[in-house]
Amino acid sequence: MNRNKIRNTLEIRNAIREHGSDILKHPNFLDSARNIQHGDVSVMKHSLKVAYAAAWLNKKLHINCSERDLIRGALLHDYFLYDWHDTSRKDFNPLHGFYHPGVALRNARKDFVLSDKEEDIISKHMWPMTVKPPKCREAWVVTAADKYISTLESLRLHNRSRMIRLRRRIIGKNNLHNGQKLNR
Ligand SMILES: [Fe+2]
Ligand SMILES: [Fe+2]
Repeated sequence: MNRNKIRNTLEIRNAIREHGSDILKHPNFLDSARNIQHGDVSVMKHSLKVAYAAAWLNKKLHINCSERDLIRGALLHDYFLYDWHDTSRKDFNPLHGFYHPGVALRNARKDFVLSDKEEDIISKHMWPMTVKPPKCREAWVVTAADKYISTLESLRLHNRSRMIRLRRRIIGKNNLHNGQKLNR
């Protein structure tokens, strides 16, 4: 890695830690390490990766987003807090793709005070499935980052060791709950 890349990586990690400090230590967020999102990647790690990718896009393309809204919205975009693969759940709905942004928004409103941009990011990140398009540039960036990361995860093209390092460096080794696996 060249110096610029290392500096950008450190700056983005620090920004995620700073803007997402309350989210990163919230038990519900930490518990999302139990639920798989795509392939072998947990919802928590997926959310960290989307936050990283969105912040990277913002920096690289000089999109001039509010970094705080961008990172917080990305960390909470999939805050639905259940295992969507579990067909035995009482409230299982096969249309998870369509309705989980609404569930994530309701959960996030209960646990955090959200800005208008954070609400837009969470509720529109599945566009065009959500029909209504994003209103702010932050929501467009998270929508793009989420699709990119989700595709890599679904095709299992993500770099597993890099992913584990990212999670450990942002969340820390000892912050997981109740024996959650360190490798997801
Ligand atoms: Fe989602
Ligand atoms: Fe997502």
